[in-house]
Amino acid sequence: MVNIILFGPPGSGKGTQATRLVEKYGLMHISTGDLFRYEMGNDTPLGLKAKEYISKGELVPDEVTIGMLENKVNMHPEAKGFILDGFPRNIVQSEALDRFLSAKSSQVNALIALEVDEEEIVKRLLHRGKTSGRKDDSDEGIIRNRISVYKEETAVVFDYYSKQDKAYQVSGIGSIDDITNRLFNQIDPLL
Ligand code: C5P
Ligand code: MG
Repeated sequence: MVNIILFGPPGSGKGTQATRLVEKYGLMHISTGDLFRYEMGNDTPLGLKAKEYISKGELVPDEVTIGMLENKVNMHPEAKGFILDGFPRNIVQSEALDRFLSAKSSQVNALIALEVDEEEIVKRLLHRGKTSGRKDDSDEGIIRNRISVYKEETAVVFDYYSKQDKAYQVSGIGSIDDITNRLFNQIDPLL
């Protein structure tokens, strides 16, 4: 399996770019945020639990998120690998992911971080909030909280994979096509 973490703050373009990577590399896209929104849309117990945290811009408890991710991966033994978008979000999730993949004789091949500055992110998310129907995109307070959670808990995931020599940075500013090409240029030599 080839597993790539598409990393970056909320609004950095992970979802948009993941779709492009899936097309080119034939990997499966797993967005933990999308999985939560699907569960919330169906008012499942998992969805109701997740909503308590997502509505405040906080992280859903690790055991919930890790279990959901592992289930999704286990449901697709045919997959050539995965593009992980929005996971892992902290060190506990990173360690759990490494253990989980290693038990499958697999690994994270690379983490690619989309670099976008904070003011651009707030602008993009407020703009997305007008059409996404996501409550966590339409309230600047929730957006700012998501950004501080990113800084306090998520940003260190880059360092964690950097110590394994697997972390790369790509500018997330510019046209969608330009950013896609930057990602291809980083990923191609790794495969
Ligand atoms: O990844 P995305 O921005 O779509 O995630 C939306 C929300 O889902 C996050 O702000 C957070 O509340 C929750 N989430 C989480 N843990 C993850 C992924 C998403 O708590 N690993
Ligand atoms: Mg997303």
